[in-house]
Amino acid sequence: MIEYRNVSKIYNDNSCGLLEISTKIEPGEFVSVVGQSGTGKSTFLKMLTREERPSDGRVIFYGVDLSEITKGELPYHRRRIGVIFQDFKLLDNRTAFENVAFALEVAGKPNEEIKKSTAQILDIVGLGEKKFSYPAELSGGEQQRIAIARALVHHPEVLIADEPTGNLDIINTNEVIDLLLKINKLGTTIVLATHDKDTVNRINQRVIAMDEGRIIRDQKHGRYML
Ligand SMILES: Nc1ncnc2c1ncn2[C@@H]1O[C@H](COP(=O)(O)OP(=O)(O)O)[C@@H](O)[C@H]1O
Ligand SMILES: [Mg+2]
Repeated sequence: MIEYRNVSKIYNDNSCGLLEISTKIEPGEFVSVVGQSGTGKSTFLKMLTREERPSDGRVIFYGVDLSEITKGELPYHRRRIGVIFQDFKLLDNRTAFENVAFALEVAGKPNEEIKKSTAQILDIVGLGEKKFSYPAELSGGEQQRIAIARALVHHPEVLIADEPTGNLDIINTNEVIDLLLKINKLGTTIVLATHDKDTVNRINQRVIAMDEGRIIRDQKHGRYML
């Protein structure tokens, strides 16, 4: 389980990222974090990857207080979390297959395992047949699905998605959201930050609404309301 205990984040320039956030996310949940731009959604997610630390309060990740993780432990912590972004962050000079395999190479996995795992994951995201394509040869939705495949290579407990459909049209958006729903059904917890109203309403799962660093609403089968 993930738990935020009275978490506040004040950035160095005194701008406020989060204000006294307390909430829990259970394994297997699909949580959408919604709110206007600048309300703290990305800061909320960055607490989990330990890109940012709380100024006050604690974030507990499956029993581990994330403030106490050392630099040396960070890479291992980050393998428990997959992350995808609005701009995909793929390597343009590598194929779909190589983009996914790269994450396993960096972790020092043996070649045979890399080949097998990469092929399996590309099948899960439905892109087995495009494995030799370069990012520029793929649609935005396909590129994001490659990024999702890459995020899944270490079988993370949690997948974090920060505005993953922000650059996509409605068809590609639906393709990506359908994949996130499928991955969630396979057991991965998903925490999605978005300000896409239609997407949130279609997902029809828990919605945490934020405003100016605070949680203003938390509903089980929520809709996007601000
Ligand atoms: N690295 C940073 N340094 C200073 N202020 C920041 C930083 N990151 C975010 N902020 C500020 O924190 C607030 C919340 O930002 P953010 O979490 O990115 O919101 P959202 O993702 O909802 O758009 C904003 O006022 C933003 O300007
Ligand atoms: Mg953001």
